[in-house]
Amino acid sequence: MSDRRVVIAIDGPAASGKSSTAQWVARRLSYFHVDSGSLYRAATAAQLGHGSDSDAWSEPDVLAATNRVSFAATGGEFAPLIDGARCDDELRSPEVTRAVSRVAQMPRVRDWVNAQVRRAAESHDVVVDGRDIGTVVLPEADLKVFLVADPWERARRRLIQRLGRHPNDHEIAEETDLIVHRDAKDATQTVQATDAVLIDTTSLTQEDQVERIVALARAVTQRPSDTSAVDDGPANT
Ligand code: CDP
Repeated sequence: MSDRRVVIAIDGPAASGKSSTAQWVARRLSYFHVDSGSLYRAATAAQLGHGSDSDAWSEPDVLAATNRVSFAATGGEFAPLIDGARCDDELRSPEVTRAVSRVAQMPRVRDWVNAQVRRAAESHDVVVDGRDIGTVVLPEADLKVFLVADPWERARRRLIQRLGRHPNDHEIAEETDLIVHRDAKDATQTVQATDAVLIDTTSLTQEDQVERIVALARAVTQRPSDTSAVDDGPANT
């Protein structure tokens, strides 16, 4: 094994379980979790203070807003800070989710996110989740996984995560529409690398998908050590 840092890339469409899976896999392997989407969300949240009509936002304005965002290693993950403070709930707000795909279309914002992610991967073993990590950001990743799931199932999971209860069919149908809409807006950058392992999680438990990825990671890195004996899963799935 060389001294080169290990990179595991987990890509896939909206609400396919990338972030919670990546977080759990990172813990199992004692790697750092890097959520690239959280950086697009942080840029969006920073810009929202200047007005909520995202159609009126210009690329230079959003780039200026990124000056308020830093990306710091803390407790096994890289997390965005706005003006030096954690803002995890704000990043998942409906306002941010509505506007983030527009921000993610801005090439210089993408360059900014990619630079943060590459810097993290230079200094740490990482599990990075996003949409274009295996194709554009870190194409030399040691393992690439592309997670997909049926839109209805993705909507159901996202609502359980957000509401903390089982949603009804009407709620799931509404959320499915939003997810399919965001899939369409994000389609250009959501690309499965030719050497990625495709995992359809529609009928898998999260534990199953984590186990599969950990096994694949062990096979490519040949590092037997992990912390599974003391880990009981991610804090917020
Ligand atoms: O978890 P979820 O799929 O809802 O979204 P996310 O991973 O937090 O990403 C939020 C948004 O950032 C996506 O809808 C994309 O527009 C954008 N994104 C991207 O373009 N490229 C990435 N590598 C990651 C996120």
